Amino acid sequence: MAARNDGRALAEVLRSRMELEGSGFFVPSGERERLLSRVSRLRAAESPSGGKIAAAIGSLESIDSLRRLAESCTRCVLHETRRSVVFAEGPDHARVMCVGEAPGAREDETGVPFVGRAGQLLDRLLLSVGLAREDVYIANVLKCRPPGNRNPQPEEIEQCSPFLRRQVALVGPEVVIAFGTFAAQTLLGVRDSLGKLRGTVHAYEGVPLVATYHPAALLRNPQWTRPSWEDLQLVRRVLAEHSDG
Ligand code: URA
Repeated sequence: MAARNDGRALAEVLRSRMELEGSGFFVPSGERERLLSRVSRLRAAESPSGGKIAAAIGSLESIDSLRRLAESCTRCVLHETRRSVVFAEGPDHARVMCVGEAPGAREDETGVPFVGRAGQLLDRLLLSVGLAREDVYIANVLKCRPPGNRNPQPEEIEQCSPFLRRQVALVGPEVVIAFGTFAAQTLLGVRDSLGKLRGTVHAYEGVPLVATYHPAALLRNPQWTRPSWEDLQLVRRVLAEHSDG
């Protein structure tokens, strides 16, 4: 009960400050992330159905029902500021599944993942190894945009990742490409840097997984283009081995 009241009060204060002062409101950024994180934790603790929803996610048998559940999700604080729930795009049974970090501004506006500058680069990277965007299933660790494109918070990942895990199970790809640290660490359940995780084929629940740089990081660090392309060659090899049977 105390957690419930605390959570509500803190959430109300944060919400009204954001409304009054915009996303750059007075709390210093480190402190703000800590507060937002605390709100998410308290919210999760006060939600009587939180555990039931997690169990429901794991038992859903179709992508459509999973999408509907995600579209009404209020498991973390991000539902308060989102315009869209960015669930995924692509064929329900694609051979390749790409996993990014979280929607940005354009994705939040359109409801479609990877449509901004990073998305355009993603399309080009995929094409460089013979993959058309329309043939690939594209999702993110978080389905809602973190305000100001801040990093996902651990509680948000905890609340949202059951959707991603179920997506992988239902799509059943031959290979998963984890773009960026958050996707790789979340799926592999490790804290290693991307530099350590890339360059090799891992397994996530028996599915080959290749971790590589996030396209947004590539835009800032063009020297990572070659290693990214090499990682995508690994993807190509996995697909070829799968076809050879
Ligand atoms: N970055 C991501 O990780 N995902 C998107 O959908 C867009 C940008």
